[in-house]
Amino acid sequence: MGFRHKTNSGPMLQVFMFVTCCLCLELTCAIDTLRVSQSIRDSEVLVSNGQNFKLGFFSPVNSSQRYVGIMYNIPILTVIWIANRDKPLNGSTGKVEISEDGNLVILDGQKGVVWSSNLSSSVANCSAHLLDTGNLVLQDNLSGMVLWESFRHASDSLVQRMQIITDLRTNEKNILTSWRSPSNPALGSFTATIEPLELPQLVIWNASDPYWRSGPWNGQVFIGISDMGVYLYQNGVHMVNDNPGTAYMTFTYFNASVLTYFVLNVSGILQQKLWSDGKGDWEVTWSSIESECDVYGKCGLFGSCNAQAVPICTCLPGFEPKNIDEWNADNWTSGCMRKTSLQCEKNTSVGNMGEQDGFLRVKTVKLPDHAKWFPSLEADCGSQCLNNCSCIAYAYYSGIGCMQWTDILIDVQKFSGGGGDLYIRLAHSDLDNKKDQTAIIAITIVLGFIIIAICTYFLLNWYRGRKQKCWRLLTRPRETDPGYSKQSLLKDYVNGVKLEEVPFFKFEMLSEATGNFDSVFKLGQGGFGPVYKGTLPCGQEIAVKRLSRKSGQGLEEFKNEIMLIAKLQHRNLVRLLGCCIEGEEKMLLYEYMPNKSLDSYVFEKDKSSMLDWERRFNIICGIARGLLYLHQDSRFRIIHRDLKASNILLDKEMNPKISDFGMARIFGGDQTEANTKRVVGTYGYMSPEYAMDGLFSIKSDVFSFGVLVLEIVSGKKNRGFYQTNNHLNLLAYAWKLWNEGRDLATIDPTIEDSFVETEVSRCIQVGLLCVQHSSEERPTMCQVVSMLENENVTMPEPQEPGFYTGRSAAGFAVSLDWNEDSVNGLTVTTLSGRA
Ligand SMILES: *[C@@H]1O[C@H](CO)[C@@H](O)[C@H](O)[C@H]1NC(C)=O
Ligand SMILES: *[C@@H]1O[C@H](CO)[C@@H](O)[C@H](O)[C@H]1NC(C)=O
Ligand SMILES: *[C@@H]1O[C@H](CO)[C@@H](O)[C@H](O)[C@H]1NC(C)=O
Ligand SMILES: *[C@@H]1O[C@H](CO)[C@@H](O)[C@H](O)[C@H]1NC(C)=O
Ligand SMILES: *[C@@H]1O[C@H](CO)[C@@H](O)[C@H](O)[C@H]1NC(C)=O
Ligand SMILES: *[C@@H]1O[C@H](CO)[C@@H](O)[C@H](O)[C@H]1NC(C)=O
Ligand SMILES: *[C@@H]1O[C@H](CO)[C@@H](O)[C@H](O)[C@H]1NC(C)=O
Ligand SMILES: *[C@@H]1O[C@H](CO)[C@@H](O)[C@H](O)[C@H]1NC(C)=O
Ligand SMILES: *[C@@H]1O[C@H](CO)[C@@H](O)[C@H](O)[C@H]1NC(C)=O
Ligand SMILES: *[C@@H]1O[C@H](CO)[C@@H](O)[C@H](O)[C@H]1NC(C)=O
Ligand SMILES: *[C@@H]1O[C@H](CO)[C@@H](O)[C@H](O)[C@H]1NC(C)=O
Repeated sequence: MGFRHKTNSGPMLQVFMFVTCCLCLELTCAIDTLRVSQSIRDSEVLVSNGQNFKLGFFSPVNSSQRYVGIMYNIPILTVIWIANRDKPLNGSTGKVEISEDGNLVILDGQKGVVWSSNLSSSVANCSAHLLDTGNLVLQDNLSGMVLWESFRHASDSLVQRMQIITDLRTNEKNILTSWRSPSNPALGSFTATIEPLELPQLVIWNASDPYWRSGPWNGQVFIGISDMGVYLYQNGVHMVNDNPGTAYMTFTYFNASVLTYFVLNVSGILQQKLWSDGKGDWEVTWSSIESECDVYGKCGLFGSCNAQAVPICTCLPGFEPKNIDEWNADNWTSGCMRKTSLQCEKNTSVGNMGEQDGFLRVKTVKLPDHAKWFPSLEADCGSQCLNNCSCIAYAYYSGIGCMQWTDILIDVQKFSGGGGDLYIRLAHSDLDNKKDQTAIIAITIVLGFIIIAICTYFLLNWYRGRKQKCWRLLTRPRETDPGYSKQSLLKDYVNGVKLEEVPFFKFEMLSEATGNFDSVFKLGQGGFGPVYKGTLPCGQEIAVKRLSRKSGQGLEEFKNEIMLIAKLQHRNLVRLLGCCIEGEEKMLLYEYMPNKSLDSYVFEKDKSSMLDWERRFNIICGIARGLLYLHQDSRFRIIHRDLKASNILLDKEMNPKISDFGMARIFGGDQTEANTKRVVGTYGYMSPEYAMDGLFSIKSDVFSFGVLVLEIVSGKKNRGFYQTNNHLNLLAYAWKLWNEGRDLATIDPTIEDSFVETEVSRCIQVGLLCVQHSSEERPTMCQVVSMLENENVTMPEPQEPGFYTGRSAAGFAVSLDWNEDSVNGLTVTTLSGRA
């Protein structure tokens, strides 16, 4: 406790000690304890052990009266406790001492007792001790028992570890009482107390009228203080009400070296003040009344206050102003009354059988005062209220439980968030009002629909007219056409897909649309032909892939693509609009993607910043869903076989669309793996088993997807990466960082500001799982989608990736087409198979 034990070996020594102590006071090496027959005079102080607080005489501003109080030991007078608030001393002749009967007393110049600690039984030998918390304690010297303490007789301030208490069992109350005026610390009209009637809350009173209330404590916050309640909680304010009939509020700030306290100021407003070293003054960081709505019952009975609205007061639903003239003149004192009396209140013996009352929910409000607590479950709270006519509202609040109201609803405030949901009992007709509105809304909607439908009908007709213009050049190949034999071949091949479903375009029209295949409109060069941008007469933009006339190659891919893509419909797959077969000319028409392909963003320094993390994550998820559709959800099982950044096109909103199905293969429903002699694909994206043995399966697409994910996250190409990085390719590099626990070091520096750590590391882990050497270990796209979209899925640890490091694998005659300039992603990069 920090008592200074000094040997007391005779009156002479005592006197000597006293003198030295007085000297000490002058030198500010003050003592913190006052013993029997010692006293403090007007110019002297007791200072607590840690120098935080001092006890002494002071005069408030603009006053010459002398008071004894405890103050912060700082240059600015900050009084937290006063002994003689109502009985000031007139001159500087007063002193504080411990009387013969053991009381702490203040004496005036004539030795008259101005103030006393009023101990009932006398204690011969005690001492007063100013603790570093600001508490002045009077202790029995023999037993060490605390006889009296200033913390239990609060003035207007609540310092840390002090308690505002109401204990109904012992009738003890410790309350804050405001000063009368800044220059007069006598008892003012405002008090702050804990009202522990069932649901304890802090209430500030103006004499006997409530002026402000905190709302009940739910174990964490006072639920009637919107978001500032959380602020108080974070500042260490808490309430303890473990025993019925008793509750106290106390406060311990998290940073012990900061000076802070609460004070009930002369205007009845509770403020938190924090000492600012910088300003050398106190700063108000919280106050109980921040808007008019915080004033208790501002809008009267059954009114609701909303600080953001004009006027601030409205009646609760089902209620109307008691005095409409006063109300319209912004005088809300008389409040509101029920529009329709409740069914349950009516005299049923007169045979007045109406419809039953119901509840209307009012969301996020400061719940009314005078709540009664019931030990009901959430489900029973409402029905219990409905069955008891004296219950006019209920609410269920977590941490508190079921609350019900009888008679009146007062001090309701609308919060923008937080607060509780109040269910108000209303007569059926007042609830019906709401239904009338719904009926009106419903009618409006129906009418609206009809009008819209009519408009749409005419619009569609008009559009069809235009569209016919647009599609009027559609042609159907005839047997007399020069290239017919090829078409029949096509027809044979395209089993299951009726060719009629794919619109045919006239060559002439496409030639017109692309400016006669002008190189200005060329979007890129694919493996089996260039891609052009075109504009149809109706204004629709398209991409036209034209098979090279020279190369016989590509016909198979062409047929393949028509067959597949005509049947596929998914938002993450590019859409085929039609084709053109005329003589030697073979063309495919796609929707035009203004943002070109993924590789033109991810790998380009100046454009990669346009893809922040959110976009990249969206792209990864989109590709995954598109691939899942191909693998599982479409009518066929389709393996793409050439998934790569340049085959991912981006639409206006940067949504990814998988394109280029020239090499895709349809699998039977139960077929999972196939072997091909003709290995096609792109170096850097091919799985080891496919590249080496020509084995392809859905897992080889998964591998390519994994590479793509790591490329999107890192902004680096797998192919060519090793040249700059110690002969590690991107997969090996990511794998190395993963094992070192530095997986986040993989990311593209341009997304450093935008990335979400959990998502990024999830993506890297998914990427590494997808590129594992063993194809069985790789997840399916279904698992991938669930891992990407669900944070709570536990993911296996990835194993070593399948490094496909060699430039050419043994036994392959490699003919690589490295032309990846194709912006519309229609490149076919071929690797011829075994000779
Ligand atoms: C003190 O008195 C002066 C002069 O009468 C006045 O201007 C000032 O506001 C007073 N201060 C307080 C806190 O009452
Ligand atoms: C201070 O003086 C006033 C009037 O002069 C007197 O009423 C009051 O009792 C005195 N207070 C004390 C403690 O002497
Ligand atoms: C002490 O008792 C006296 C007489 O009962 C009373 O007037 C005075 O206010 C009391 N003082 C305190 C500090 O309670
Ligand atoms: C206080 O008690 C001690 C013994 O505990 C005694 O020696 C001392 O004289 C007492 N002082 C007074 C002032 O009664
Ligand atoms: C009581 O007072 C005596 C002498 O003043 C001192 O030695 C002793 O430590 C005190 N006891 C307590 C419990 O403060
Ligand atoms: C406190 O109550 C008094 C008396 O009823 C009244 O005059 C005064 O305006 C009230 N103060 C506040 C801040 O409401
Ligand atoms: C506590 O407050 C002191 C003084 O303001 C400050 O220097 C210190 O950093 C704070 N400590 C913490 C943990 O906030
Ligand atoms: C009391 O506190 C409120 C809120 O901080 C403030 O606006 C008001 O000026 C204070 N009253 C006095 C007299 O300091
Ligand atoms: C508001 O209405 C009440 C009740 O009728 C009345 O007593 C009070 O004077 C009115 N207040 C004002 C400011 O008009
Ligand atoms: C209900 O009506 C009956 C018959 O009119 C009357 O005797 C009884 O007092 C009424 N009860 C209430 C509660 O009004
Ligand atoms: C209805 O509610 C009131 C007030 O909460 C209570 O006193 C009364 O016992 C309840 N009646 C029934 C039948 O539950």
